[in-house]
Amino acid sequence: MSNANVNNKLPKHLGLIMDGNGRWGMHQAHSRLFGHRVGLQHILTVLPICYKLGIPFVSGYLWSLENWHRPTVEVAHMRHLLQTFGPSLVRELHQQGVRIVHSGKRTGLTAEELAVIDDGVTLTQNNGPNTFNIVFNYSGRDDLLHAVRRIAAQGVAPASISENLFSQMFSTPLPDLDLIIRTSGEYRLSNFLLWQSAQAMLYVTETAWPDFGQRDLEAALRYYQEALEYQAEVRAVAEG
Ligand code: IPE
Ligand code: IPE
Ligand code: MG
Repeated sequence: MSNANVNNKLPKHLGLIMDGNGRWGMHQAHSRLFGHRVGLQHILTVLPICYKLGIPFVSGYLWSLENWHRPTVEVAHMRHLLQTFGPSLVRELHQQGVRIVHSGKRTGLTAEELAVIDDGVTLTQNNGPNTFNIVFNYSGRDDLLHAVRRIAAQGVAPASISENLFSQMFSTPLPDLDLIIRTSGEYRLSNFLLWQSAQAMLYVTETAWPDFGQRDLEAALRYYQEALEYQAEVRAVAEG
């Protein structure tokens, strides 16, 4: 695909459900943990492609609240990766002028783990416009509850609770998602950014996250553009 093609209607906010690391690791080296390490590093390969194509806001699903129920060894490895790989991910993104934000709970993380995330957010807060939202320790339902609790705590009158107000109540307010790509073939949202995905297009590829590259991204963008064109045609017909 030429750039002229994809430059047209690009998503402003792309969600990446980066799935399949475990299966990929088993396939490559008989180790799910290997897959997690390579999968995290792979973020640094894919993000620059997104930004270069002109997608300014990317949310990457790294770890859900449900993922803590995985086997102890895998959970410990993920915590270890956050400590060891997190700071270099932050440094690299900062060098590229990327702003980092975080969606997810703070509870359940150690002071050291929170420091990795908070340092990344603080260090890069004046960067932009390209932004990477680290979706870590996250549950879409929990995020909705958090928003509801904040509204209740502020004593907002029910009639004043608008979609606009609600959108401002999340742990990190985000633009709506335009396109969500899920790697590794499964057709699920897995509790990813539920409010923000209301109108998002969904694209599922069989490719596992560590193998996901420019061609896959361009195929997803083609799908996105065709779906938008189709929607516009349907609207035009409906309006006569
Ligand atoms: C996604 O890969 C990354 C996560 C940390 C959840 P998985 O670990 O879910 O890989 P599969 O889906 O089991 O292959
Ligand atoms: C979704 O993948 C979450 C992440 C990529 C972090 P999972 O592998 O955790 O999702 P389920 O368990 O298949 O729904
Ligand atoms: Mg998975």
